[in-house]
Amino acid sequence: MESAIVRKMELSDIDSVVDIEKRSFPMPWTRGAFISELRRNKLARYYVVEVGGRVVGYAGLWLVMNEAHITNIAIHPKYRGRGMGKKLVGGLIEEILKINIYRITLEVRPSNTAALALYKKFGFVPCGIRPEYYRDNNEDAIIMWGEFIKNDNKF
Ligand SMILES: CC(C)(COP(=O)(O)OP(=O)(O)OC[C@H]1O[C@@H](n2cnc3c(N)ncnc32)[C@H](O)[C@@H]1OP(=O)(O)O)[C@@H](O)C(=O)NCCC(=O)NCCS
Repeated sequence: MESAIVRKMELSDIDSVVDIEKRSFPMPWTRGAFISELRRNKLARYYVVEVGGRVVGYAGLWLVMNEAHITNIAIHPKYRGRGMGKKLVGGLIEEILKINIYRITLEVRPSNTAALALYKKFGFVPCGIRPEYYRDNNEDAIIMWGEFIKNDNKF
């Protein structure tokens, strides 16, 4: 794995983040959505993964009670398949454990084999379906949950 660091997202990262978002999703979040998340959503925590000073991916969490919900995660297409997704998910887990949150949930498309494989590596398991969750093609979402404990870092 290339040397990469995970750090908190800042407003100055948003150009790179929006670029990656547009390259990654059929219904990308807008720049305004990211700004609002960073400035106004007290439940939100956003992180980027950086290689050689370049932002190559990002992920967001909403912290609700004692659970975390992954809102989005993407790696720049040129940097996929190089362990950056694993670095980022590992970073998210480390961050939630620091604040004594142990459970993470997310939604993923059944057709998204790369994301499913990534989450399964960290022990996320499918726990249900949200029918026709994705508005672009009415694809269902698989709901996954991961449970983590301190001092058990496999990443
Ligand atoms: C899903 C995504 C974040 C994975 O990021 P990545 O940096 O390519 O993933 P990694 O290189 O860390 O790979 C992690 C694991 O995922 C799996 N994986 C990655 N790419 C894969 C592919 N194309 N096909 C199948 N499995 C794949 C592998 O199991 C890999 O583990 P391994 O290297 O030990 O075998 C990336 O593909 C992406 O940004 N996709 C578009 C946005 C998206 O779909 N986000 C998820 C929404 S739920």
